[in-house]
Amino acid sequence: MIVLLLLSISLILIYVYLNGKYNENYWKERGAKFYEVNKVLGPFWEFLISDRPLFQIFHDIYKKHPNEPAIGIGTFFTPSLYVTDAKNVHAVMQTDFVSFSERGFEMNEGDLLADNILFMGGKRWKLMRQNMTPLFTAAKLKNMYYIIDKSALDFVEHLKNNPEKWRRNTFDTLSTFCCAAIGGAVFGIGSESTYDSPFLEITRAAFRPTLWSNIRFSLSNLCTPLFKLLGLKLFSEHEEFFIGAIKQVLRKREQEKVKRHDFADICIQIQKNGVMRDETGFELVPSDELLAAQAFFFFTAGVEPTATAIFAVLIQLGKHPEILKQVVQEIEDVYNKHNAQLSYDAISEMEYLDKVLNESLRIFPPIGFLTRKCVRDTVLPVGNIKVAKGTKMYTAVYELHHDSRYHENPEMFDPERNLTDQKSETYLPFGKGGRICIGARYAKLQAKAALAHVLRSFDIKTVEHKGGLRFGKDQVQLRMKNVDIEFIPRN
Ligand code: HEM
Repeated sequence: MIVLLLLSISLILIYVYLNGKYNENYWKERGAKFYEVNKVLGPFWEFLISDRPLFQIFHDIYKKHPNEPAIGIGTFFTPSLYVTDAKNVHAVMQTDFVSFSERGFEMNEGDLLADNILFMGGKRWKLMRQNMTPLFTAAKLKNMYYIIDKSALDFVEHLKNNPEKWRRNTFDTLSTFCCAAIGGAVFGIGSESTYDSPFLEITRAAFRPTLWSNIRFSLSNLCTPLFKLLGLKLFSEHEEFFIGAIKQVLRKREQEKVKRHDFADICIQIQKNGVMRDETGFELVPSDELLAAQAFFFFTAGVEPTATAIFAVLIQLGKHPEILKQVVQEIEDVYNKHNAQLSYDAISEMEYLDKVLNESLRIFPPIGFLTRKCVRDTVLPVGNIKVAKGTKMYTAVYELHHDSRYHENPEMFDPERNLTDQKSETYLPFGKGGRICIGARYAKLQAKAALAHVLRSFDIKTVEHKGGLRFGKDQVQLRMKNVDIEFIPRN
């Protein structure tokens, strides 16, 4: 027995050694520096054993190698490259999109809720994205703004009536608001029940980092064949409730025959049009399940990252009273100009608030790094690194936002920076290129509406607890911990 055990351990050690050597040689041959701390599991090893978020582990690597165009990392069998150089990041995201059109998130057949735009690839992704894009045009957002505005007003009332929320758990309070807002805007779910909505628990649970979800996430990145072989599903526990809820919304809406300008309307229209078809004849049936999967991700994105974005602004404003004063002044001026209304046009006119939000998203981008999968052999422009089809790409985001070569004095909160997310190559809070966040405009509108309403009613202060701001252990998101907001009612 002991001999067998020793033999197994020896075989594993030999395998680990050989796999590490293979990974190292693979990237050295391609002219890329290799991350040697763990040659088999790369940064995922530290992620699994420490309490740090993955983006911070990447950031440490970035700081140690500021001038490398990209760094090879060990991830068992799949070649993986951490892209650090801004021009290379831009190539992966935008200019060489045809080579990197997939996100590289793995999912298994039958994982119904994972069958959404974020995870999809190829023709399936393109067709689905084309059909969902109309939901987020400026005209559609203007039409649905009344729902966002109502949620923001309800939120302020909720805050006024619950003084116990003025000094703690601000992030949770904000996610509750975001859940209500996205629930209303996307599904027309009434706001009475949203403050204790079961959807909130689901969206929190879906991406909540637990030991099991961290292992599943690491396995899907490190060893896709095993992830596939085990048929692991990411969201199966939420299927029954979520798909059931969406079916109910859709059937009810079909009967009501009223237009509310939300996601449910678009779904009904798509289902009425029948099979979706692209120019090559590729087809996709818009089943309730497929549409529920899109809604599931909209819900998840509409809650946690959007709450993080609003929280980030409040943290900064609570630390910078002079900037807060200027924002509040703008809100009041525009409010008065628009006959005491915070309409869509009023919110769109708030340029300084927009700058404050953009700068907060630079310092705290809710998604810390991005991923892509190479779908055809190509070469990165800086360093001429050959990238083979199948390679997983991890691209810097937080790192570029905090690099003084691109953003002078990067730790300083300065809303007057010229950050236009369309132009800058080193500013990517919503990603870039063909797979840029589809909900960016919606998310910014929701955030600004909430901020305008809240700041009219409350003054704020940032409270950093002992030890200062930290980030929670998380797979891709930034979760600010150890910091809170104090809301002080205005007279
Ligand atoms: C402040 C809030 C949000 C932030 C910071 C954010 C950020 C991001 C980022 C960084 C990506 C990846 C982009 C890339 O890979 O280039 C993404 C993708 C996506 N986001 Fe958002 N997002 C937010 C809110 C939303 C909302 C509210 C929705 C929908 C209602 C949404 C829907 C999506 C979808 C569908 C994708 C996948 C796009 C694709 O792969 O084609 N996001 N988001």
